[in-house]
Amino acid sequence: MTFQLLHTDSGSKARHGLITTAHGQIPTPIFMPVGTLGSVKGVHFKELREDINAKIILGNTYHLYLRPGTEILHKAGGLHQFNGWDRPILTDSGGYQVFSLSENRKLSEEGAMFRSHIDGSKHFFTPENVVDIQRVIGSDIMMAFDECAPGDADYQYTKKSMERTHRWLKRGLERFDSTEAHYGYEQTFFPIVQGGGYRDLRIQSAETIAAQGRQGNAIGGLAVGEPTEVMYEMVEVVNNILPTDKPRYLMGVGTPANLLENIALGVDMFDCVMPTRNGRNGMMFTSEGIINIRNEKWKDDFSPIDPNGKSYVDTAYSKAYLRHLFIAGEMLASQIASIHNLAFYLWLVEEARNHIAAGTFAAWKAIMVKKVATRL
Ligand code: GUN
Repeated sequence: MTFQLLHTDSGSKARHGLITTAHGQIPTPIFMPVGTLGSVKGVHFKELREDINAKIILGNTYHLYLRPGTEILHKAGGLHQFNGWDRPILTDSGGYQVFSLSENRKLSEEGAMFRSHIDGSKHFFTPENVVDIQRVIGSDIMMAFDECAPGDADYQYTKKSMERTHRWLKRGLERFDSTEAHYGYEQTFFPIVQGGGYRDLRIQSAETIAAQGRQGNAIGGLAVGEPTEVMYEMVEVVNNILPTDKPRYLMGVGTPANLLENIALGVDMFDCVMPTRNGRNGMMFTSEGIINIRNEKWKDDFSPIDPNGKSYVDTAYSKAYLRHLFIAGEMLASQIASIHNLAFYLWLVEEARNHIAAGTFAAWKAIMVKKVATRL
């Protein structure tokens, strides 16, 4: 994997770059649609490629390990062969999902014992075996096994958790560096900065992660219930330390406004379930603001879903019709909303790239941040 920095904004820390992987190029800043089980819920890959213009999608080690499991993924020849997505894939390590989804999880120095959220069966993740699983999945970018401490964790807990995440990182890197990709193309490994909402821990963690000299770095443990201002403060502290010549991935973030603010702080990659999950509930993100399409006020609004939108659903359907589909519980409603929201997120990061390249990012961002957070 390589990262080429193409433009740096003079009015902020925003950057526009180009990641090159074995499965193609990713212009940054970029948003990665979440494809937990190897599918982006309700959206065909044809739509992801042609209407949404997704450059990379995300999969989850935790889910793919439980279903369909490594045996099937190995037999298929990896996730790209299995699901037919031929562009880059990033996989999260399972660290975050073990803590948020499974029951009876138990952490030790060795790893995390957890029970499947599906059938209660018992499993064990270690920093080493999540590398092995991600080798079988064949993701272009794999993530380190970490603990994402809860947003309300106290200083001592967060410090101990961060220190263990650093020890886990060392073990994960050793496994990664001593094993080969299974399918003949290069995979890379991103370490993850932790440290909660504590500046000194964030500094310590960012220094530890930067010192590994990997091809990219991630920031975890944010958007877990802390105030938005704390998230921005932590990202700023961390980005002052992480190398400028490697991509920076902010995990699990966020709203359109969160993307713009973090791009201004020098973040290059994002993922979040929000456009698809909130879309399935009728929440639509547009360039003019946020719409709850289930709201009565849209019942006889026959204007397009988003007259400025880039995907075909934006002008093919009216607000009133989409509201009707939601109220009637038609599954097409969720599909339309997911396609629209993802296309909007991909449009937003594309516009950010264009404005960074043109030297107009800061002024554009100031206007957009207000617009995208307006409730219509
Ligand atoms: N997704 C969102 N936040 C995190 C995090 O802190 N760690 C991991 N592995 N995934 C995440």
